[in-house]
Amino acid sequence: MRIEVVAEKWVNDGFCIGYENGKTIFILGAIPGEKVICEIYEENSKYLKGKTLSVVHPSENRKIPPCPAFLECGGCTFQHIEYTEERQLKVNLLYDGLFFHGLLKNSKFQRENISIKFNNEYGYRNNVQLKIKNSLKGFYKPKSNDIVPLPKAGCLLLSSELNNYILNKNNTIPEDGKLRYSNNGIKKYKKEISKFMIKNKEILIPEDGFFQINQYLIEEWIEDILNLSGQNENVIELFCGAGTLSIFLAAVHKNLKGYEVSLKSIEYCKKNSVVHNLKNTSYEKKDLYQNTLYSNKKDDFICIANPPRAGLGKIMKKYLLESTPKKIIYSSCNYTTLLPDLKDLKEKYEINGIDIYDFFPRTPYFETLVLLENRK
Ligand SMILES: C[S@@+](CC[C@H](N)C(=O)[O-])C[C@H]1O[C@@H](n2cnc3c(N)ncnc32)[C@H](O)[C@@H]1O
Repeated sequence: MRIEVVAEKWVNDGFCIGYENGKTIFILGAIPGEKVICEIYEENSKYLKGKTLSVVHPSENRKIPPCPAFLECGGCTFQHIEYTEERQLKVNLLYDGLFFHGLLKNSKFQRENISIKFNNEYGYRNNVQLKIKNSLKGFYKPKSNDIVPLPKAGCLLLSSELNNYILNKNNTIPEDGKLRYSNNGIKKYKKEISKFMIKNKEILIPEDGFFQINQYLIEEWIEDILNLSGQNENVIELFCGAGTLSIFLAAVHKNLKGYEVSLKSIEYCKKNSVVHNLKNTSYEKKDLYQNTLYSNKKDDFICIANPPRAGLGKIMKKYLLESTPKKIIYSSCNYTTLLPDLKDLKEKYEINGIDIYDFFPRTPYFETLVLLENRK
């Protein structure tokens, strides 16, 4: 089905919103103010979702997307606007969300206070999950298992090393299509260990362990977390992965205790601590969505949390409200779960810092780093 519709404003996930016969349409690939012909790919009783096929009245801000697969594959959502506009849009979405959730009442934060840190708009990804079917490789179309073939020049979001590998080493790509570019070369995810050099420290990541995907911004992000954390504190780190943040934090704090659900990652936290001669760390495998923590340090500690897209979860929020660390440094890759989490923590903690790190340019995602300080 095709519909002519006017895009009215930006909303989440790279969509603009428009209306047709009283029904809401979420449109990909449009710019507010444009009239577009939209092809619907999802419909239910409440809304329609579609992507722009052609533009009847283009915005003067419209750019020609550099990738021929733009909007076909489920990756990028913003190649049709300048990167400066995308960054402003991300700030606006976060600011409006903070306002909507009542998090800015009596707050010193204005839109202008939220900075967005960024680096290369393309070529930043250090991992990829290709889809491979009948000798065709590429990515899935949104809401489908049909493959959109990889363009001849590769994927613009991937590092040049990953693109070269994928385009030239056809017979060494694993069946699951998962590869990671690290300082010890291209590694098969789930099969090989990766090594990363971050701020001159080597970090080992297990076969299927988490590592931030943006190779350009990670050092700045770590440096900012370190600055916010201060020095010589007792640190509890929630969702610590293989200890990428932990080894930097432990080097400047009294001690660090990290929690994470993946046993393999916990083993690597320990290995990374040994490599860096850190004797003040301890780590425990724990499902933090199912179990709480017991702290005998009362409120004499700080907490660092970098959860998955689902956010902190009820149990960790209760823990943070009851155990009251002096501050919480919360880094989130999903502001739609971050905002309700902040709302729940508001009764005990004040927001004293918010920064965006654009880890995922050209996509609707971004990382938000929040400093929460105990009101006591
Ligand atoms: C965004 S990553 C953060 C990792 C770490 N901060 C880093 O930069 O490498 C989130 C981590 O949460 C872990 N995780 C996912 N679900 C979890 C759960 N239920 N309980 C504890 N950890 C979990 C994942 O394995 C992953 O390592």
